[in-house]
Amino acid sequence: MSYIRYKNNNLFVERVSVRSLASKLSTPFYLYSEGNIIENYRSFLNNFKKSNPLICFSVKANSNIQILKVLRKMGSGADVVSGGELLKAIKSGIKPNKIVFSGVGKTEDEIKLAIRKKILLINVESENEAVLINKIAGNLKKRVAIGIRLNPDINAPTHQKISTGKAEDKFGLSKTNLISFCFNIKKLKNLRLNAISVHIGSQILSENPFKKTLKVLEEIIKKTKIYFKFVDLGGGFGIAYKKSDRQINFKNYSNLVEKFKKKYNCNIIFEPGRAIVGNTAILVSKVQYLKKGSNKTFAILNAGMNDFMRTALYDAVHNIIPVIKNSKKNKGTLEFVGPICETTCKFIKYKKYQKLNQSDFVAISDVGAYGASLSSNYNTKPLIAEIIVKNSKARVIRKKQDIKNLLKQ
Ligand code: LLP
Repeated sequence: MSYIRYKNNNLFVERVSVRSLASKLSTPFYLYSEGNIIENYRSFLNNFKKSNPLICFSVKANSNIQILKVLRKMGSGADVVSGGELLKAIKSGIKPNKIVFSGVGKTEDEIKLAIRKKILLINVESENEAVLINKIAGNLKKRVAIGIRLNPDINAPTHQKISTGKAEDKFGLSKTNLISFCFNIKKLKNLRLNAISVHIGSQILSENPFKKTLKVLEEIIKKTKIYFKFVDLGGGFGIAYKKSDRQINFKNYSNLVEKFKKKYNCNIIFEPGRAIVGNTAILVSKVQYLKKGSNKTFAILNAGMNDFMRTALYDAVHNIIPVIKNSKKNKGTLEFVGPICETTCKFIKYKKYQKLNQSDFVAISDVGAYGASLSSNYNTKPLIAEIIVKNSKARVIRKKQDIKNLLKQ
């Protein structure tokens, strides 16, 4: 089912007309479909149902507490990478025993917090981090469950800025180092090695790198003879932003995961972010100005790279669709740009587009993951509102930031 679609040329999110909302509220704003989030969660779980995994939603993809609550009600846990994300996950009601904490640079305070909250796993990314956790655990008189993150040296085909599993990337331990870590960990008396974790990158559209990763994990289990209680297979599952983006074949990979689980008698964890929320939101914006350039027309939106960074950071393709469709044609090339004073504050260019007028509303598509969570106050712009729709009701889940908050320092 498509939760964001046109009815009689009017864009709707579930049963709410985007135009009616945009005319009432100040644009730009993020607009989510709750039904879509729920459906994505169910279908992700369904893909792997035979392995009965724990899903730890990757909070960095979207850290709005109300969205976390929707996921918590579905049974989701959380993958967090900072003390702030950990506190948000707990505030949303996610039980600490469903929370895993990754990240290469956890601070003393973050480690203490994770220990005090008794989370499921701290996924350790270096030997020295393990030494520090062991010391802090000793001071707190606790024994702490950890996972160890593998860097499998696998080149997953994705944007170079979001790949995490190659030897040159800062994440996890190489196979050799991880194996010797497993043998030395006995010295760290306050740690319990409960898991091995891996995450090879994001927006991956082929199942092959995931399959290769399973092989590396098998090799490690065989060499160390450690039967980990949990095997955390990370996130990274891509979505189709463009028509040409292929979809992952989950069936085949899921069968392999099931076999793996049975063979090594472990519990499986996944940490999806994008696959759960990516296609569930649009960013509603107004055409502030149309301006003629020498070989194209600029549609200058009131949303900018501060509100939505993915295009500027990763050259990501996000279609911009009209809120009201018409059948007239725009003359020449149209480029959608934002107001921020940076050349990279631009979104997408179309050779063909419908007739566009100043003050028309448009929607940037598929912005539910790494949209609001990556936004900033650059150019001293307040963070924009986030709204979620359930059936015919729209609810504000983040108010537009009061400019007064930006005038304090
Ligand atoms: N687990 C770990 C340890 C991660 O580092 C990440 C993402 C995930 C899970 C979730 O990955 P996902 O399922 O969402 O692909 N800002 C970039 C993406 C950065 C991803 C960082 N790590 C973007 O907008 O494409």
